[in-house]
Amino acid sequence: MPGVIRAVDLVKYLGGIQVVRGVSLDVERSRITVIMGPNGSGKTTLLRMLGLLLPPDGGLLEMDGVNLLSLDEEGRRGFLRRVAFVPQKPVVLTANVYRNIAIPLRLRGLDPRTADAEAWRWLKEVNLEKHAWKSAHSLSGGERQLLALARALALSPDVLLLDEPTSHLDPKNAAFIQRLVKEYVSERGIHCVVVSHNVREAKFLADEILVMVSGRIKARYGPDAPESELLKWI
Ligand SMILES: Nc1ncnc2c1ncn2[C@@H]1O[C@H](COP(=O)(O)OP(=O)(O)O)[C@@H](O)[C@H]1O
Ligand SMILES: [Mg+2]
Repeated sequence: MPGVIRAVDLVKYLGGIQVVRGVSLDVERSRITVIMGPNGSGKTTLLRMLGLLLPPDGGLLEMDGVNLLSLDEEGRRGFLRRVAFVPQKPVVLTANVYRNIAIPLRLRGLDPRTADAEAWRWLKEVNLEKHAWKSAHSLSGGERQLLALARALALSPDVLLLDEPTSHLDPKNAAFIQRLVKEYVSERGIHCVVVSHNVREAKFLADEILVMVSGRIKARYGPDAPESELLKWI
């Protein structure tokens, strides 16, 4: 499955300010690109543009040579069905924990029995089955993050976009999720971009680490970059 998501010179203005200022990157299959950088540097804005959740004001965005910015509404919806985006503050549905995974799967067209079995499998995978019948709103921040990740992975995305996915997790859960994401991406050969403030996480997950400062990519590293070098930027 060859393929690449290619962003060239992406630009975004928010509130009259250019917050993404000409960013180019390639996101290849089976590889994880980690974006690091200080608060307010434009990481979330960039991630949302890569998932077509926010339209760029300039630049190009392609997947496998198809221009994602000139898709018609049907084409855009088709692409969005292939994307899973987990925001920094995960959104949960007003329903129990189990249905938070099962409902999106049913909406994707899985038959109810398969959707329910998959939802259960992923709840167990992230160790939330004991909370299955609770309201998702009653979960702690970390539990919500686990739920949002389980829901995203259950959807079998082709493009996985994670915004600070372990920021609310304890070290044990964070390590577990990092391994889970890494395995998932390489086994399924999907595209993955992760925003992270955690240098160790970045080095563990990444095939490529991009440092974003004031809306621009200021440095690119491999996973072997020294921690001290990465820490300089954040
Ligand atoms: N809706 C918005 N309106 C105006 N400014 C925004 C909006 N969303 C984000 N910003 C600003 O854009 C900049 C980049 O934000 P963001 O992409 O969230 O940064 P990061 O994820 O790196 O912390 C910040 O200065 C932020 O305040
Ligand atoms: Mg952010």
